[in-house]
Amino acid sequence: MDLKDQIDKKNLPQHIAVIMDGNGRWAQKKGNQRIFGHKNGVKAVRDTVEGAAELGINFLTLYAFSTENWNRPKQEVNALMSLLITSINSETDTLIKNNVRLLTIGNIDGLPKNVTAKLKGLINQTANNTGLTLVLALNYSARWEIVNAVKEIIAENRQNPIDVDSINNEFFERYLNTKDIPDPDLLIRTSGEYRISNFLIWQMAYSELYFTEVLWPDFRRNDLYEAIVDYQKRERRFGKISEQIKK
Ligand code: FPP
Repeated sequence: MDLKDQIDKKNLPQHIAVIMDGNGRWAQKKGNQRIFGHKNGVKAVRDTVEGAAELGINFLTLYAFSTENWNRPKQEVNALMSLLITSINSETDTLIKNNVRLLTIGNIDGLPKNVTAKLKGLINQTANNTGLTLVLALNYSARWEIVNAVKEIIAENRQNPIDVDSINNEFFERYLNTKDIPDPDLLIRTSGEYRISNFLIWQMAYSELYFTEVLWPDFRRNDLYEAIVDYQKRERRFGKISEQIKK
């Protein structure tokens, strides 16, 4: 039986988050520059987005550029920014045709102006689409997001001090970049690294974690299916015991 046929359509993860890792190693293994890996990573992005949309996944978040990625060699950072622009240009029609809505998390105003403008344009153009929501994490890190939330809470409530007892998870989540996005059910990380790397720390409290040796440029929808099939074999207990879940 095909992997796709093994997927229970009634038990799909509502939100899948992906740490796309291994572009550099993929290129270097082939004797190429790291950017060659990023360029081929775009093919994996395309196939994964199509695969997720076709299955009926509601949210797909891709970690495309972290706050820490600014520390990479300038040439690689510039190449990644150019790749974002060319990818947005080349994928716009397909995203619109496939009813995909684009969102971003992270400080996109801190990206080069032309990248920010392109992203905002596509977010507006796809705002009313009702299919897959594709969330690009750009200039994002979870610690930045949490500190930023605290700053916003203080700034917004300067005039009227907050009642301490009114602060709970729901209150705090309203100040996160992901405020209208459900928590990820499944996190996929490629390239055989077992780390969270400052990604969605708050939101992944109960996510199922899936690690694969596949390097990101080789990742295709079949690898996505494999992760979903694995996810569906797990029992999500959210702190309860097995018998309570089966009731
Ligand atoms: C991690 O591999 C990958 C990145 C930091 C960038 C991801 C970017 C893309 C896939 C292309 C553009 C994205 C979109 C959404 C169009 P790495 O460079 O850390 O690999 P390594 O661990 O082997 O060095």
